[in-house]
Amino acid sequence: MRFFIDTANVDEIRIANDLGIICGVTTNPSLIAKEGRNFEDVIKEITSIVDGPISGEVKATTELAEDIMEEAREIAKIHPNMIVKIPMTEEGLKATSILSKEGIKTNLTLIFTPTQALLAARAGATYVSPFLGRLDDISQDGLNLIADIVEIFKVNNIESEIIAASVRNPIHVLECAKLGCDIATIPYKVIRQLIQHPLTDKGIELFKQDYLKVFGK
Ligand code: E4P
Repeated sequence: MRFFIDTANVDEIRIANDLGIICGVTTNPSLIAKEGRNFEDVIKEITSIVDGPISGEVKATTELAEDIMEEAREIAKIHPNMIVKIPMTEEGLKATSILSKEGIKTNLTLIFTPTQALLAARAGATYVSPFLGRLDDISQDGLNLIADIVEIFKVNNIESEIIAASVRNPIHVLECAKLGCDIATIPYKVIRQLIQHPLTDKGIELFKQDYLKVFGK
């Protein structure tokens, strides 16, 4: 399983990129709004940091296929690594189908059922983004959704890649990796949680004390 970082914060993206663990970035309208910066400026800066797929979403107010396609073509022009994120709606599917024939890569987002993922793949989506944390939030098992999509894509030889999204904790990451998910897009906070372990910190401290006792510096 590969890692993307799920943020529009360029400082977090730089840190994660320097760790050598991420190979892409996902953003969404809420994450862009949180930074309070112009969409194109942020996206351009992100493409200068990470050399991999960067998902930029069409505006939340863009609903019709024609408008989605027009905006998608502009997003795709920003950089060759751009992936256009499109919500899973009828209009979104229609736009995805045409954009994929134009060679524009897409990430179908806000996927909450396995069959939405299958439809997105059949429309030509490069990536599908099932949101597991938001399902957990309403007492439905988000990891079941990931398991079902992984199985369906495998038995049907589907090439669209699965990005586990709305990842909230290290257990989500562990279970997605065990399920054979292609990618997990994770917030910086979860990246830090994955790195740290109290026994690692304790071990470093013990090594330090033992060393200092004998060598003094
Ligand atoms: C992914 O593409 C989405 O931007 C993101 O994972 C949503 O996460 P949230 O449910 O924590 O907002």
